[in-house]
Amino acid sequence: MADEAYRDFAKDGITQFSRRAIDEAQWKRFASSIFFVNATLDDEHGLAPLGARLDVVEHDRGLPGHRLYYLAVPPALFVPTAQQLARSRMIRPDDRLIVEKPIGRDLKSACEINDALAEVFAERQIYRIDHYLGKETVQNILVMRFANSIFEPLFNQRHVDHVQITVAEEEGVGTRAGYYEHAGALRDMVQNHLLQLVELVAMEPPYTLQADVIRDEKLQVLRSLRPIQGAAVDTQVVRGQYAAGFELGQPVNAYREERGVDPHSRTETFVAMQFFIDDWRWAGVPFFLRTGKRLPKRTSEIAVQLKDVPPILFNTDSADRLPPDVLSIRIQPDEGFSFEINSKVPGPHVDIDPVKMDFHYASEFGSSTPEAYERLLLDVMAGDATLFMRRDAVEASWRWLDPILDRWATETSSPLPSYPAHEWGPPEARALIESTGRRWRML
Ligand code: BG6
Repeated sequence: MADEAYRDFAKDGITQFSRRAIDEAQWKRFASSIFFVNATLDDEHGLAPLGARLDVVEHDRGLPGHRLYYLAVPPALFVPTAQQLARSRMIRPDDRLIVEKPIGRDLKSACEINDALAEVFAERQIYRIDHYLGKETVQNILVMRFANSIFEPLFNQRHVDHVQITVAEEEGVGTRAGYYEHAGALRDMVQNHLLQLVELVAMEPPYTLQADVIRDEKLQVLRSLRPIQGAAVDTQVVRGQYAAGFELGQPVNAYREERGVDPHSRTETFVAMQFFIDDWRWAGVPFFLRTGKRLPKRTSEIAVQLKDVPPILFNTDSADRLPPDVLSIRIQPDEGFSFEINSKVPGPHVDIDPVKMDFHYASEFGSSTPEAYERLLLDVMAGDATLFMRRDAVEASWRWLDPILDRWATETSSPLPSYPAHEWGPPEARALIESTGRRWRML
């Protein structure tokens, strides 16, 4: 494409997807900085034309360099691309590299990618994106916990009964089967997005807000996860795959009927699991996660359920116990959080009903919350790595998940339950939590 053609293409995209209308004057100024260069990874110096073009642009505009290479390529091309950049002498100490999750598909492959990247970029130059960290509601978890005196004293095993995290999607695999078939929900969502949420909810307060101090505390959570190995995988982790069903009255395909999916595929589109964090704060508190595609609705929530009050005074009837207090953090949609507590219903009797203290981003701050990527790309430009995954954390999360993946890879005869589209996963997911006397929240 010529530069102009590419600028038009970019403008169309913005017109279609941006939440704001284009300001023509601003667009013109911005568009004059967009260029299109055709390059290939197939020959050894294939990226040289890109380097030459960047040299010209930097020279013409008197720019100091500080390039940011964003590899919007499949993960298998991260390393070859980085190596080509090095071969074409395009990497300088102030340049930065952005790569996206998934970094690898297990610990071994993640280490190989990280090792290879480390040969050409220093760790401080590498920004690994997990776009959940760019979501306002996710960033607010630390503010909520550490900028308010009410919550932090409650976040521990003395007060919390359990934590449950749901990241549900209504859509199926869509056009991404080529990638998803080799990933599945555990690699696609749990290894990154859901574990990020766990880290933020469970971490100790960092002693400053510096990127590495926060990332050190998050890493401690990953390192404290109790391993799930061998036969324990079968009882603590449930996987499922969506079967056919209906969406708005229209039939929708089973996963195995989707374009690009093997008709005998054993890729999981749903995972639910129970685990523990073996540190003093969370000892004995079960954490439950569930995530999947083709669930009843798109919704993501972290619910911190507090312990019951003693069965004295208002909680004496064992057949009719008071509902528990729950702090619910809504990641999306309808971003916000609510605190579900009990209140007396006005009248002469002591009737108690649950009520909600509710905070909605949209009504409080308006609805123009930045997209995760807007925030993240700006942070890379500013050199702030707080919201990016460090190498040791990526590897720690794979280290914890590897035994689960190994078990699934070797136990090929173990059942892979299915669930009809738009149900909350297979019945095994309910049994997982209900066997502990708890239940999934109705979302
Ligand atoms: C991506 C996964 O990282 O996150 C997708 O690869 C998933 O499979 C998506 O659909 C969900 O992101 P969001 O922001 O829509 O919750």
